[in-house]
Amino acid sequence: MSSDIFQDIKNDFPIFSNQINGKDFVYLDSAATTQKPNDVIDSVVHYYKNCNSNIHRGIYSISIEATELYEDARSNIGKFINAKSSHEIVFTRNATEAVNLVANTWASQNLKEGDSIILTEMEHHSNLVPWQILAKKLNLKLNFIEIQPDGELILDKLDNLFQENAKFLSLTHVSNVLGTINPIKDIISKAHEHGITTLVDAAQSVPHMPVDVQDLDSDFFVFSGHKMLGPSGIGVLHAKKTLLENMEPFLYGGDMISNVSLREAQWNDVPWKFEAGTPNIAGAIGLGKAVDYLNQIGMDVIHKHEQELYNYAIDRFSELKDFKIFGLENKHSTGGVISFSYSDFHPHDIATILDGESIAVRAGHHCAQPLMEKLGVPATTRASFYVYNDTSDIDKLFNGLQKVRSVLT
Ligand SMILES: Cc1ncc(COP(=O)(O)O)c(C=O)c1O
Repeated sequence: MSSDIFQDIKNDFPIFSNQINGKDFVYLDSAATTQKPNDVIDSVVHYYKNCNSNIHRGIYSISIEATELYEDARSNIGKFINAKSSHEIVFTRNATEAVNLVANTWASQNLKEGDSIILTEMEHHSNLVPWQILAKKLNLKLNFIEIQPDGELILDKLDNLFQENAKFLSLTHVSNVLGTINPIKDIISKAHEHGITTLVDAAQSVPHMPVDVQDLDSDFFVFSGHKMLGPSGIGVLHAKKTLLENMEPFLYGGDMISNVSLREAQWNDVPWKFEAGTPNIAGAIGLGKAVDYLNQIGMDVIHKHEQELYNYAIDRFSELKDFKIFGLENKHSTGGVISFSYSDFHPHDIATILDGESIAVRAGHHCAQPLMEKLGVPATTRASFYVYNDTSDIDKLFNGLQKVRSVLT
């Protein structure tokens, strides 16, 4: 595919053939969830129409086909993030469940009273609340890497945090509010020098830029299918195989066992040890197709496209009075996200008026309330871009924002 692919890309997404409120639909909330291309929808329909059956147990043809599709998706996703082996890919419901899995298995088994966990002030609640609960249960300390006003992490004090009995570090690769790309390779390498195990919340990076888990050397790495053109209800935990092998299971039941007697059970090999019960088979197959679709465009091409949109948007919005972009001076933005305030208009009012123009943006705290507190606002309005957005969407947002002013003043 050439980069002018973006011109006609909306045709691949059936939702854009609908009019909403009598107008062409402008979707600018991909940081929350993404739209689905025909390839992904068709793969899910294909499974239900042609080989709907349970996996790993049937010895009849369609069950064998379903098992192959499910396991092929696993290896496809493994290659996409350059995992050493597809056996390092555990299917979960979403990034949130993957963080909870690690908190309830590796972290519960390896952390003890007095240890500390390092997080950052820009975490999504998904990578904060599970650690708060674990800290209360085990008497652990939580320490936070602070952020500076431009939205970048303050890394000078990292060594001090390492000295405070730190055993685990969990941080987001890309902020869902500010778009900041954190220098995680560097941070992970420093953490490893201190014997600290790491988790990367890659919910906002894997969909938007090339990632290589071997190069990053992350111990645990989580993301969600629905934010990268895949179905909802399917997510991924990547972990180094030796870690997975030494962890106790998260959930217990069918498929995660190798042998069961009335009073005892032995566990299956990894990754199946962590996939108790019937999984989201159609979701995994759809996510495998989403990866094919993204690969056809190229992750570096997608990253560049979003940065171009971001630069175009910044230029256009500079014409608006009292318009403030949070983290604008941030040098390491993905380009996928713009969080803003506009005069003293409430983000919910802005989003509601834009909805009348058939423009979908997000208003609220974006599941990052501590970050809102740091920014000194209860909420922001957020526009986020993806493969199917183009400059005409930004022009429509610009016109919509002018309408917001005329309605609210
Ligand atoms: C940075 C980040 N982490 C984690 C999540 C949680 O993703 P999910 O709700 O799919 O588990 C999100 C969702 O917005 C996110 O933006």
